[in-house]
Amino acid sequence: MSFVYMKILESSPHRYDVGMGVSTLGGLSRAKRYIASHVNSGDKVLDLGCGTGTLVRMCVENGGDVTGLDSNAGMLGVARSNIPGARLINGNVNDIDEHFKEDSYFDVIVSTLVFSELSDVERSHVLSQANRILKPNGRLYIADEVVPKNVLMRLTRSLIRSPLAFLTWVMTQTTTKAVANFDQEISKAGFVVQNHKHFIYGMLTLLEARK
Ligand SMILES: C[S@@+](CC[C@H](N)C(=O)[O-])C[C@H]1O[C@@H](n2cnc3c(N)ncnc32)[C@H](O)[C@@H]1O
Repeated sequence: MSFVYMKILESSPHRYDVGMGVSTLGGLSRAKRYIASHVNSGDKVLDLGCGTGTLVRMCVENGGDVTGLDSNAGMLGVARSNIPGARLINGNVNDIDEHFKEDSYFDVIVSTLVFSELSDVERSHVLSQANRILKPNGRLYIADEVVPKNVLMRLTRSLIRSPLAFLTWVMTQTTTKAVANFDQEISKAGFVVQNHKHFIYGMLTLLEARK
């Protein structure tokens, strides 16, 4: 549910990491550490919607050759001061095809809490382009808010989430939308989903897939 609140934090980039750390009880950092632990030295890594660059930094520390892409200049400003010299691009993930023209270039593509901010059409476009620019057998790690399959969990979640979403909309005129049927969307883009991991009592789902 803290993911609704993240839209408010995105307009205060300097408070984003502390705010998300507290509101996700450290779960977001655990998911990022898990993702970064799968980056090998020399891997070419792309972080879609890198925000303040915490995951970029973890991947760099594991020897990755990392590129971050984000459309929020304030978030990127924090990222630049956190990881001087990192390759960070101020751009829209929907223009992924403009930014990355070479097919089969990256070994790993990662993304945390970004796909829930995209529309269905945008997700489909970004996923199919991610497939194009990944090397054969390349790895995709996406951690995001996913609609639970269990009906009771879905209902409980909506009851808690709706007032928070409304409040966030009032404050930021934007919101996030948990992704339904994300597995199918990822498979449709040409990936094979290999694993799911759950963080923060199932509120954050990490999908691991291969091209
Ligand atoms: C909730 S933050 C997550 C940031 C980071 N991935 C993390 O987990 O800490 C969402 C990020 O996605 C970026 N974002 C959302 N939509 C985007 C788009 N269409 N193109 C590029 N970046 C986008 C926002 O600017 C923001 O930095």
